[in-house]
Amino acid sequence: MDDLDDLYFIYSHPDLSKYLSNEQPLRLDQTRAAINSIIESWQQHKFGVWAVVYKKHRKLIGHCGLKFLENTPEVQIGYLLLKDYWRRGFGTEAAAAVLKYGFDVVKLERIVAIAKPENIASRRVMEKIGMKYEKDAYYYDNDVVYYSLSRQAQQLEALQLKDLGKYEELTLPIPQPLAPVLGGI
Ligand SMILES: CC(C)(COP(=O)(O)OP(=O)(O)OC[C@H]1O[C@@H](n2cnc3c(N)ncnc32)[C@H](O)[C@@H]1OP(=O)(O)O)[C@@H](O)C(=O)NCCC(=O)NCCS
Repeated sequence: MDDLDDLYFIYSHPDLSKYLSNEQPLRLDQTRAAINSIIESWQQHKFGVWAVVYKKHRKLIGHCGLKFLENTPEVQIGYLLLKDYWRRGFGTEAAAAVLKYGFDVVKLERIVAIAKPENIASRRVMEKIGMKYEKDAYYYDNDVVYYSLSRQAQQLEALQLKDLGKYEELTLPIPQPLAPVLGGI
């Protein structure tokens, strides 16, 4: 299955494994399990993880989405892109779209995000989409910084988020072959 192979390429990539929750490249069977868990999340909670697709080449370049933060009722935003696509505004574009979906469609009252303190790129994405540092914390066996944004505060940020619409190279709605696998807007 192409979608499985594409996602396996990303989840097993040596550049990216340190950003996955167990910090190990995923095997093919683990990637399949990850896809099943994404599908389950969409079915149960009406939110989950999207494929991030580079429109120009219709290439799967990463993921971005919402899931429950470990052992909490909080919903966290997460993102990961292939290294070739870093620093082109795509992480921010994807995260801004997911955040908007979380507030406008899922009607969440609050969205949080965590990162290792030294992960400057991830922290910048959080800041650029309007999230604010709240505290240091410990999740997924790691010391992390914890950011959050309430629906109310997000409404105040809305004008700034609108500016992020200038990027048009990505698509979050999932192309047809992937739709049954990952779900989508
Ligand atoms: C986090 C990630 C998705 C960011 O994606 P991206 O497309 O490179 O981000 P953007 O291009 O939108 O950049 C957002 C901001 O971060 C800054 N930034 C990006 N990479 C950076 C880096 N390596 N060092 C310092 N700043 C960086 C950009 O300059 C930009 O800030 P600016 O507008 O003030 O200049 C990407 O780096 C990635 O996939 N990292 C590995 C996975 C990961 O860390 N996920 C998060 C786990 S918590």
